[in-house]
Amino acid sequence: MRVYKIACIPGDGIGQEVVPAGEAVLRVLSQTQGTFKFDFETFMWGGDWYRKHGEMMPADGLEHLKNKDAILFGSAGDPHIPDHITLWGLRLKICQGFDQYANVRPTRILPGIDAPLKRCKVEDLDWVIVRENSEGEYAGVGGRVHQGHPIEVATDVSVLTRVGVERVIRYAFKLAQSRPKKHLTVVTKSNAQRHAMVMWDEIAVQVSKEFPDVHWDKELVDAMTARMVNRPATLDTVVATNLHGDILTDLAAALAGSLGIAPTGNIDPERRYPSMFEPIHGSAFDIMGKGLANPIGTFWSCVMLLEHLGEHSAAAVLMKAIEHVTSNKSLHTGDLGGSAKTHDVTHAVCEMLKGK
Ligand code: IPM
Ligand code: MG
Repeated sequence: MRVYKIACIPGDGIGQEVVPAGEAVLRVLSQTQGTFKFDFETFMWGGDWYRKHGEMMPADGLEHLKNKDAILFGSAGDPHIPDHITLWGLRLKICQGFDQYANVRPTRILPGIDAPLKRCKVEDLDWVIVRENSEGEYAGVGGRVHQGHPIEVATDVSVLTRVGVERVIRYAFKLAQSRPKKHLTVVTKSNAQRHAMVMWDEIAVQVSKEFPDVHWDKELVDAMTARMVNRPATLDTVVATNLHGDILTDLAAALAGSLGIAPTGNIDPERRYPSMFEPIHGSAFDIMGKGLANPIGTFWSCVMLLEHLGEHSAAAVLMKAIEHVTSNKSLHTGDLGGSAKTHDVTHAVCEMLKGK
């Protein structure tokens, strides 16, 4: 029997509630499927670790993770630690250390979810946004000099490399090709940013030649926000730079009904390193420790994890269980206007998997 080694990193806030819920669901799924098993190892890195050790994860943290088949991550963020420390010390360290250059974010309106767009039919909104995940506006290049003086200077330089752009655009074309609509929208801002984004556009044209069966178009990022709201059915697969993708995926999640539902995969398509799966919602300190967090974003991330492992039928079974549960309004958590608890939703998904 195949045994998958999974690293669980709950991190901060509600990450500590939703990751164990994801683990529980995966455990039940492996029992009911009977063809594979999980060997979980949990790493309690994050804000509390930082308070004890002065770092978000041990210096050799990546060594502990590199032989895993996948990573299930909760969230990083702590009200008492600056955001750039929590982010760069854990999540980005893993994403960049393992060169997980494709951040993949599917969005759909799941059954039973009340999405905010009046005219949008469920079938109109079925997107996958691929966000560049290794460079661009998050390259970490920049600095501050003369701090606190009137002549202070601060820069954040967005860096795009030909290799970095080519590989993520190629990944997005391949993904678009694998979906029924075979349609890709390349998001840009080359009207204002006249160097790197112009190269981005040129590379899109070059890579598109490898995929003659994929229809593609280009959209400026500002116009893209309006198109997502006004003409959602004209979109299918989307590729964007790191920051553009960050913003567009929050909009996408909100248009699909809740940030609590949206999943993410931080993928190393070459499989040199483990890929990392996480809900998009963040640490949500205001509701932590109360059992109120929506675990659906984590469960859907587990579906992506299973797909990445090649367990497609198990992934489909879990997705069906998730959709069965979201269609029952009495199982909606607070973010969806309901009063169900994390435990209720987790229990319902597990029971569904057991065929009860
Ligand atoms: C996300 C988040 C992060 C990001 C934050 C926590 C820095 O918003 O995963 O989308 O911008 O990458
Ligand atoms: Mg974001």
